[in-house]
Amino acid sequence: MTDLRRAGSRRRGWARARFLPAHLVRRFWWAVTARPLGPVASSFVSSNLLPAERELFERMSASDQRHHVQVACRFVNGFSAAAPREWVAGALLHDIGKLSCGLGTFRRVIATLTPVVGRGDGPFARYRRHEAIGASLLLAVGSEATTVALVGHWPEAPVEAACALDRADEV
Ligand SMILES: [Fe+2]
Repeated sequence: MTDLRRAGSRRRGWARARFLPAHLVRRFWWAVTARPLGPVASSFVSSNLLPAERELFERMSASDQRHHVQVACRFVNGFSAAAPREWVAGALLHDIGKLSCGLGTFRRVIATLTPVVGRGDGPFARYRRHEAIGASLLLAVGSEATTVALVGHWPEAPVEAACALDRADEV
């Protein structure tokens, strides 16, 4: 590796190291100050989710609901044309598998910062498998295949939608 490339990867490492805590602090603040969705956001959710998907959405905390609406709005705004409903549903439910871990905000921060904590089928282990768990939940309620693939990060998910979702989730 040349000195230039080494310096570049060091800079990227610093950028990541600074990004992670700020990102978590923002999410933590977001979680403790969240209020229930307003009528515009609720209508956006209802118009993009099937009734059974909406029931899953309602099981999330107010802060999680707000995060999902924010990500879905960023996702929709990333396309010049209207995104298909089943893609938007994937954005609105992208972290639905975290429901099963039962971790509060503080323990989620710990789970993110310490990826080796937790084993077996405990809450931390389930947190790390939330994508697969989310896909199972959506399969069980009859979601469209594309929605399931997006939430589960399956290779069948449309690349354009999967990339847009990753970008939208960087909040
Ligand atoms: Fe997310």
